[in-house]
Amino acid sequence: MSTTDEIKSRIDILDLVSESVQLRRSGKNYVGFCPFHANTRTPAFVVFPESGTWRCFGECNEGGDIFRFVMKKEGWDFPEALRHLAEKAGVVLQPMTPERQAEVEEHERLYALLEEAVTFFRYHLTQTPAGRPALAYLEKRGLSPETMERFGMGYAPESWDTLTRHFTQKGYSQEELIQAGMVTERDNGGIYDRFRNRITIPIRDISGKPVGFGARILNPEDQPKFLNSPQTVLFDKGRLLYGLDAARKAIRAQDQVVIVEGYLDVIALHQAGFENVVSPMGTALTEDQLRLLKRVTRRMVMALDPDAAGQRATLRGLEIARQTMDHATEMVFDARGLMRQEGRLQADLRVTTLPEGEDPDEIVLRDPQEWVRIVAEAKPVVIHVMSTLAQDQNLDDPKVKSQIAAQVLPLINEVGNPIEREDYRQRLARLLRIDERALVLSGGATPSPRTSRRRSEQRRPEPVAALQPFAAGRPVRAMEEHILQLLLRQPEALYLLDRQLQKANLQRFSAQDFEQADHQVLSKLLQQSLDQDQSESNQYLLENLPESLSDLVRRYLEPLAGGEPESQPLLEDLVYTLLRLRLVRVNENLDQLRYLQQELESGDLLQENYSEVTAQYILLRQRLDKTLRAPVQVD
Ligand code: UTP
Ligand code: MN
Repeated sequence: MSTTDEIKSRIDILDLVSESVQLRRSGKNYVGFCPFHANTRTPAFVVFPESGTWRCFGECNEGGDIFRFVMKKEGWDFPEALRHLAEKAGVVLQPMTPERQAEVEEHERLYALLEEAVTFFRYHLTQTPAGRPALAYLEKRGLSPETMERFGMGYAPESWDTLTRHFTQKGYSQEELIQAGMVTERDNGGIYDRFRNRITIPIRDISGKPVGFGARILNPEDQPKFLNSPQTVLFDKGRLLYGLDAARKAIRAQDQVVIVEGYLDVIALHQAGFENVVSPMGTALTEDQLRLLKRVTRRMVMALDPDAAGQRATLRGLEIARQTMDHATEMVFDARGLMRQEGRLQADLRVTTLPEGEDPDEIVLRDPQEWVRIVAEAKPVVIHVMSTLAQDQNLDDPKVKSQIAAQVLPLINEVGNPIEREDYRQRLARLLRIDERALVLSGGATPSPRTSRRRSEQRRPEPVAALQPFAAGRPVRAMEEHILQLLLRQPEALYLLDRQLQKANLQRFSAQDFEQADHQVLSKLLQQSLDQDQSESNQYLLENLPESLSDLVRRYLEPLAGGEPESQPLLEDLVYTLLRLRLVRVNENLDQLRYLQQELESGDLLQENYSEVTAQYILLRQRLDKTLRAPVQVD
């Protein structure tokens, strides 16, 4: 039995869900109000004890197993949900390879050291006379004791060895202190405390484990203003975002993240109730950081000070952007770079401009509503660049017009979506008060190179006989497994599968085709592996596979009973199995909806859902019949 099965067998989904949802029996299933969306009228949340799954037939229209339930409820990712439920179930997660095991143990010790350091610094802030000026400073900046505690803020005493002595006494070695980045080595081999007479801010990874510190001066004469941990095995500035652990739930709930520049901005905004905020740590936003965010939301707002947002938007451009990469305190605003990222990540990246000379922490202290307004006014990168360029310019001057057009048009041409592209072009024409055709002539309509396809790539292979249809009643779960077994062998088949589905007017393949959380995670990863273009998709998949799924993947990649399929039969099998899977599920949903319908007096919402599911059912049936008669053709 796999670990996830073991856990499922020990945790009763009814017990788990009942902890937060009041359930009522309804036939062999249980219903209640969905905990994931606001609703008080229609209890459309159903738990199916037999299959150990749940589904919301209302607004969410989503479902899954116990793992998916806690993931959604807590905003966790799969490994976290796995860890949590394993513990609850008393299941010991399988140990890994000995090397990895040793590494994990070493990391655990460093995490423990760093957590201990948080306590050490907090003690010095709150319990010692030397910490008073630091405390007073933080109070002056409007931070409450609760906020300081929540963010683990502390004070590093003005001493070369207080920390070193403390940790040595606790049994940590010099080597460990160095590895954790808490001390600096002297040329002669000794060590001294890295952070002295500074306010300390622990930096945590996405799961909340401490990985390093940012430390701010108290004495205005000291340098640098912020001293961060050095690069260590745990601390890699370019791959971390400050505040993400605390912000993640809010980011997911609001489906939006706001990226600010400083630690203290993040902290002050959280205190004011704006919790969907993170910051990089004095470096330009990296692709890794954007990817990290993308796992939580695709809607990203960058809050830039007017200097950064303005000057760099004028695109004296790429050059300045490149220079600022090395400049620790500035966030890069390179419009073209951001737009490429946006396309790559399929994200919605917006820019908002802060008032002159004020940081977000000051704004929100003065007037929280102003922060709301600023974020709401964030504009897509192109629009932002346009308005910044047009600011204080004489737009009647033809020279100015053509300069602005020359700077903005190349950006517009980068936009992947043709409707959006056209909209920007129209806006630019309106802004400059010129005929849109003039823009087209000056190069606005050049098709992007990606859209032109070589015709010779198209071919129409001989249809091959369909694979053995599945035995009737094959369980849903085995179908899910089978689909993933096929996709793992050939991730690119996902494109072809999607094409088939689109042609048949069916929904694209998505993680929601699966009920099991591990399958959902794996299918998302498969999609990601195709979305990215840094490495081969299989390679990417293996590199990004959470440890918790490696067993599953290994098992799915074991040789198939019927031998390894060629790509054409594989695709057919894939299409067929997915259709069957959907049909079974839609059928179950129909049953359940009929049941709910009977019980409820007012079920408008369900009625809608019912018609939709019925339509899906009919469509799927037709498609399936057709697939059986005429095998899938690749075109
Ligand atoms: P700021 O100078 O804007 O600092 O740098 P801040 O966070 O607003 O702090 P206050 O309000 O002046 O107290 C923005 C961010 O750049 C990084 C830090 O992450 C900081 O939060 N930074 C800045 C460094 O890493 N090193 C520095 O020397 C300065
Ligand atoms: Mn500031």
